[in-house]
Amino acid sequence: MLRAADQGLMTASRAGRSVIVVGIQWGDEGKGKIVDLLTERVGAVVRFQGGHNAGHTLIIGGEKTVLHLIPSGILRPDVACVIGNGVVLHLPSLLQEIDRLESRGVQVTGRLRISAACPLILPTHIELDRARESAGGARAIGTTGRGIGPAYEDKAARRSLRISDLFDPARLAERLAAAAALHNFVLEHYHKVAPVDAGAMLEELQRLGERVKPLAADTALFLDEQRRAGANLLFEGAQGAMLDVDHGTYPYVTSSNTTAGFAATGSGLGIGAFDYVLGIVKAYSTRVGAGPFPTELFDDTGRHLAEVGVEFGSTTGRPRRCGWFDAVAARRAVLHNGVTGLCVTKLDVLDGLDSLKICVGYRLRGQLVDSTPVFVDQYADCEPVYEELPGWHASTVGITTLEALPANARRYLERIEEVLGVPVDMISTGADRAQNIIVRHPFD
Ligand code: GDP
Ligand code: IMO
Ligand code: MG
Repeated sequence: MLRAADQGLMTASRAGRSVIVVGIQWGDEGKGKIVDLLTERVGAVVRFQGGHNAGHTLIIGGEKTVLHLIPSGILRPDVACVIGNGVVLHLPSLLQEIDRLESRGVQVTGRLRISAACPLILPTHIELDRARESAGGARAIGTTGRGIGPAYEDKAARRSLRISDLFDPARLAERLAAAAALHNFVLEHYHKVAPVDAGAMLEELQRLGERVKPLAADTALFLDEQRRAGANLLFEGAQGAMLDVDHGTYPYVTSSNTTAGFAATGSGLGIGAFDYVLGIVKAYSTRVGAGPFPTELFDDTGRHLAEVGVEFGSTTGRPRRCGWFDAVAARRAVLHNGVTGLCVTKLDVLDGLDSLKICVGYRLRGQLVDSTPVFVDQYADCEPVYEELPGWHASTVGITTLEALPANARRYLERIEEVLGVPVDMISTGADRAQNIIVRHPFD
């Protein structure tokens, strides 16, 4: 009998290390900044879920780049960038992002590979998302209006058009006609809004498809080859654990699995391929859109966090809701992601506050609870139970060693470690790529 090695299935002496970076709050934890930083040590960066609802901000020597679909490794010339099968793809946004980067001299073509299995976001998905949101009234989710939910619904309903359909004109036309008929029926007769011209949709897909076809690849095979050849891989999560469609504050969530387990399904590698999960967590909490947020602040401290933290959505520009650090929700997220180590971001935003609060439990209808409610409808009734810690008045901006931090800042980080039960391996002390403390590097 042939052994695996004889069949050429095992060629490398040592596989590379694979790290998953995920947000463990409600998104916008600073994932993009950290992914960009860590890609110094990787061969390929992979997006595995979500779509252009994400907005990941990179600041390098004062120059700002906001990425929505392209992985945050694109600014490092030697890194391959992959959009995995778990991502829903809006072709006009993708091409616009590529053009914008290339006009700045960033080489994208030749470095970006897109899974042929990615479902496409169609103009009708965007119209459906918006029509539902405006019909939702007080119950609206506050989506980004990017068509994410309807596109994932079609994936589950086996109705999606995929990148691979762009290669077969007859199949493309047939599947688009079927999807458009259904979408337009719902738009016209349920939502009472104008339908989308199916002919124009097909023409756009054919035109943009020609540009995208050369980027299509068997990305799972590519990643497997890279890994076996010894390359390190980084998996870049979008959104955050509390927005996960299964584990988040349903129905106020996004429509994909944002937790680390989906890095396997959304890229095509098996779960045994992963070595480390980095949970990105802001030193306080923010949320964009509707849904429960027990530690939300409406006072001067809330305004301090919003102003100093410049808390406006990178995708929609909406003001982010701000509040104290919620250790109860974060502990849950550590569980769902199997977090190995934490990266605490935006510590500098807390500079100058007299005292800081960490939510360590909730009061729910007179009872004290120390975990998020299983019945999500109870979440909105949770009141935070706080522990108070002293603040610091020195600036932490740009500090790169633990020793240089004010004692109370170290104490705050130690308390986060204690309540979450995982080590703080990295700390971000400013928006720039260079402003970090690395205690233990995820690729070491
Ligand atoms: P992502 O979606 O998780 O990638 O996060 P966003 O980019 O949407 O939001 C994070 C924001 O905080 C961006 O504007 C970053 O430039 C900024 N940022 C990231 N880390 C830090 C930090 O440590 N300190 C400060 N002051 N800003 C940071
Ligand atoms: P990044 O990757 C913060 C939120 C929306 C809304 C909910 C559903 O930058 O962290 P959707 O358009 O996905 O159907 O909206 O999810 N949301 C995000 N919030 N950061 C994001 O991405 C988000 N992507 C979606 O505001 O509440
Ligand atoms: Mg963001």
